[in-house]
Amino acid sequence: MKTAIRFFTRSKKGNTAKLAAAVSEALGIEALPVENDLTEKVDRLFLLNAMYAANVDREVTEFLERNRDMIGEVVNMNTSASGKSTWKAVKKATDRLGIPLSEKEFHCAASWIFINKGRPTEADLSRAGEFAKSFD
Ligand SMILES: Cc1cc2nc3c(=O)[nH]c(=O)nc-3n(C[C@H](O)[C@H](O)[C@H](O)COP(=O)(O)O)c2cc1C
Repeated sequence: MKTAIRFFTRSKKGNTAKLAAAVSEALGIEALPVENDLTEKVDRLFLLNAMYAANVDREVTEFLERNRDMIGEVVNMNTSASGKSTWKAVKKATDRLGIPLSEKEFHCAASWIFINKGRPTEADLSRAGEFAKSFD
């Protein structure tokens, strides 16, 4: 079973990068930014992203587009300030590209300006790692 981790982080806080580091540690696999295309076919891709302007960033959907033939299944892991998930936005892209998206996802509320200060917390990061490990 081949697994890869890709993430896109946009804010200076790097919330998604923090989550990606926790998943990387839990799985013992390198987490790379979405600029890094896959170099081999993977059965499962943990795709870590966040909500910006009520959507998922174009960098994320462009990564999926470029790598569509290399991905067996996407698992969405994301944060937002509102607590709303990016799953539907990712699903729109994966459906268009014909990539299976797991119904199981990880979401947690995270900091933005004055909202959700301190999140993701250590407990959030640990939950993210446990979630990823639950696929083994
Ligand atoms: C430019 C920008 C737009 C955002 N828009 C939304 C939004 O529409 N809804 C929401 O719930 N959170 C929104 N957020 C909050 C982010 O989803 C949250 O801070 C996330 O953890 C950022 O991840 P990052 O630090 O990896 O970029 C926005 C954040 C930024 C920087």
